[in-house]
Amino acid sequence: MSDGNPHGTGLTRGQLLHEMGLTSQWRLREQAVEGRAGKAALAPPPAAIPAAASAATAAIEATPLGEVGEAVELLAPAPVASNAALPVVDREQQIARLDWDGLQHSVAECRACGLCQERRQAVLGVGDRRAEWLFIGEGPGVEEDARGEPFVGPAGKLLDAMLAAIDLQRGENVYIANAVKCRPPGNRTPESAEIATCAPYLRRQIALIRPRLIVLLGRAAANAVLGDIGSLASLRGKTFEYRDADSAKTAIPVLVSYHPAYLLRTLQDKAKAWEDLCRARMLMRATTTTASLPA
Ligand code: URA
Repeated sequence: MSDGNPHGTGLTRGQLLHEMGLTSQWRLREQAVEGRAGKAALAPPPAAIPAAASAATAAIEATPLGEVGEAVELLAPAPVASNAALPVVDREQQIARLDWDGLQHSVAECRACGLCQERRQAVLGVGDRRAEWLFIGEGPGVEEDARGEPFVGPAGKLLDAMLAAIDLQRGENVYIANAVKCRPPGNRTPESAEIATCAPYLRRQIALIRPRLIVLLGRAAANAVLGDIGSLASLRGKTFEYRDADSAKTAIPVLVSYHPAYLLRTLQDKAKAWEDLCRARMLMRATTTTASLPA
């Protein structure tokens, strides 16, 4: 692994990791990987951090959101599945008006696609409903299906560590949702039609939360929010914008990173995920600074 600076932030990789406030859990795992690869630990000298970090933040502040990304909207809904109770437009409009209780109830009762047939329960999401951070994964796995909460299995433990690495915690200024609310049988990847059928629920969650930043974890989440616009590798490192139907509202910046389950299988890409998280944190700081500037 090089210690170079592929993102033009002015920081070395070690400084990026330090800027992320990496926890010992993350650091230990990375050191284990590094150890296997025979490379040195990454922590930079502490004195180098503040100037470098503020330079990186300034670089992001000077970069308009979406400069390298695009303004995008969620995918149009799929044609109505045969077991859906309502025509697609009515269903969309109805979901778009729901409050949290209504959303919870509607998701629990949803039979709009075949995923309902094998679920134990639908999994809406978890966390702070006024969170600035929204993380979106793929769909519930077997443990999530059993417990009714996203990311509680092994991938969830890694996600918690990733959150801790940037001083975040599940439930505190963080909301976690999935592209689809019901477990795909055998933990398969949800199909595009299933993602699109579930998209009104995700849209409504975003509208209710109004996060400051959305982080898409993996290809299914990227497909759900950005559409099928490229490989994960091509989407990483860019800033997209999410706009809902009420385009008068400020666009929400969107980043794409790896899914934690993928990272559990592909240890060498953890460092790239750290870079993504670091970038997310800097972007959050930049949007917070911009939002608090006088008009
Ligand atoms: N993977 C996901 O994408 N979401 C979960 O909730 C659990 C695992």
